[in-house]
Amino acid sequence: MRILSGIQPSGRPHLGNYFSMMKRMVEFQDKFELFAFIASYHALTTIQNQEELKKGIWETVLDFLALGLDPNKSVFWIQSDVPEVTELCWILSNFITVSQLELGHSYKDKISQGIVPNSGLFFYPVLMAADILLYKSDRVPVGKDQKQHIEFTRDIAERFNRCYGNVFTIPEPDILEEVAVVPGIDGRKMSKSYKNAIYIFSEEKDLKKQVMSIITDSKGIHEPKDPDQSILYKIYSLFLNEEQRQELRERFLVPGTGYGQIKQELYITILEFFKKERERRKDLEKQKDYVKQVLEEGAKKAKTIAQEVLEIVREKTGLVYFF
Ligand code: ADP
Ligand code: TRP
Repeated sequence: MRILSGIQPSGRPHLGNYFSMMKRMVEFQDKFELFAFIASYHALTTIQNQEELKKGIWETVLDFLALGLDPNKSVFWIQSDVPEVTELCWILSNFITVSQLELGHSYKDKISQGIVPNSGLFFYPVLMAADILLYKSDRVPVGKDQKQHIEFTRDIAERFNRCYGNVFTIPEPDILEEVAVVPGIDGRKMSKSYKNAIYIFSEEKDLKKQVMSIITDSKGIHEPKDPDQSILYKIYSLFLNEEQRQELRERFLVPGTGYGQIKQELYITILEFFKKERERRKDLEKQKDYVKQVLEEGAKKAKTIAQEVLEIVREKTGLVYFF
């Protein structure tokens, strides 16, 4: 089975990215064929500054490697190092209607935030479909916000296959219910664009500030607290097994512990949880040549598959014209 997912280099990874996608990718690499990439073309929809994009790509590569992605067990590359994906994107754009793209939740969400959409933003799901279909992916680990994009991908692939035969694998989204929508410190979906995220590689003092800013109600130490209504409980639970979760529930329900104390414990828990990753991240910064080599090899492997699949698509559609 082939697993594929990508992340945009448009910010540093937060707990939502980690638990729904990055952690699971790292776990999958021991069992399945894993394809992971940095969605550099997608980032152009929002980042139009050379230095910012270059820095974002570099940082995100280091982040993913530090979080445990092993280039010996996976194919890891930068999307734009295999430009074949843009040709497939163009071909696929003819298999989805404008009105379907207009229904995109993520697109509508950006518009409702007052963003004037460039056509790249509108087209975003088609490029994502090309990423998925070009590498014949079976499963795509993502958070819930990306589910509809995978449904678009399936529709595109089915329409294409109806015209030309069984060319594309129909992918399945791989969404883990408990972490499908990780809440941010304000209770909305954790997101870089909402400024409500807890970032894995923050400096300690910034990390502490993020954790301490988790919104709670005004219940004091001597009052019982409702874990089911608590953002703090939900975020803390990400780091706990079932037994530890029960203990935390008790501490919410039985008076005696204040929110400040629980936040302090969560901060220490996060630091401990990512201790190895935070150290590895610092080491990787010094290994430019190694990282460069990893990316070159990844792009080479990805390109071989991309060219094979694209050749079939060109042939099936009639773009290969020798007769
Ligand atoms: P952001 O919304 O912060 O910009 P991205 O769009 O870069 O994050 O998302 C990268 C991956 O992380 C995607 O698979 C996305 O579904 C997932 N993801 C992002 N935010 C969350 C969240 N709050 N909960 C669960 N998954 C998330
Ligand atoms: N759209 C995804 C996000 O913002 C990133 C992405 C691009 C992706 N292409 C993909 C994810 C293909 C999975 C598969 O998070």
